[in-house]
Amino acid sequence: HRTAAVIPAAGRGVRLGPGAPKALRTLGGTPMLIHAVRAMARSRAVTLVVVVAPADGTVEVRRMLDEHALPERTQILVVPGGETRQESVRAGLDALPADITAVLIHDAARPLVPVDTVDSVVEAVRDGALAVVPALPLSDTVKEVEPGRPGEPEPVVSTPVRARLRAVQTPQGFDLATLRLAHEKLARLSGDGEGATDDAGMVEQLGVTVVAVPGHEEAFKVTRPLDLVLAEAVLARRRA
Ligand code: C5P
Repeated sequence: HRTAAVIPAAGRGVRLGPGAPKALRTLGGTPMLIHAVRAMARSRAVTLVVVVAPADGTVEVRRMLDEHALPERTQILVVPGGETRQESVRAGLDALPADITAVLIHDAARPLVPVDTVDSVVEAVRDGALAVVPALPLSDTVKEVEPGRPGEPEPVVSTPVRARLRAVQTPQGFDLATLRLAHEKLARLSGDGEGATDDAGMVEQLGVTVVAVPGHEEAFKVTRPLDLVLAEAVLARRRA
């Protein structure tokens, strides 16, 4: 019974502005991807981390991982990613050895997730949940709109009750066989041609129950330039 973590890190991160692929940007002088790998390796349950790198960057990513200190007991594999996040996750799952029964999927773009959050996801899977997401209540009210042209006013369609909504983070934890089944059945799912943006969403489509455990505000996703400012501040506070 072994748990692995798959880290999709093949995105270009265009919303962050121009520069290196997002996972290779540095925080506190260390690439985001290294922070993310360490965050997974800090959990005693995780003995294998599969990093899904940009298809043209596997050599660079391997070299970068070799240059940074990571726990001895953690085995690290690097595989090339795909066009969408969903395809990159699939590539990571395909690289897992046969003795892995549970898997965490963790965005490289969430470098600062605390180990307690990782552990509580692992624990819920070990307790029998087939799919687990860390989640937080929202501070903003959310509205569904009819998307229009950029910059044009958009009609509001509905306002879901905020108290019932959660923002979901990663790592998301899965029974491996269940997540594999979801990928096989839903080879190309979802909305805007991006593929699934959320692994648990694919499992929901199978009719399998997904449970939420408390997330953490430091597990936020580094997406836009302001997120980099916040991430640097969180790191500085931890080091103080
Ligand atoms: O773009 P977004 O912030 O949703 O990306 C979430 C995660 O998925 C990031 O860690 C990114 O590197 C990864 N990703 C990937 N392959 C893609 C697109 C995104 O591994 N083709």
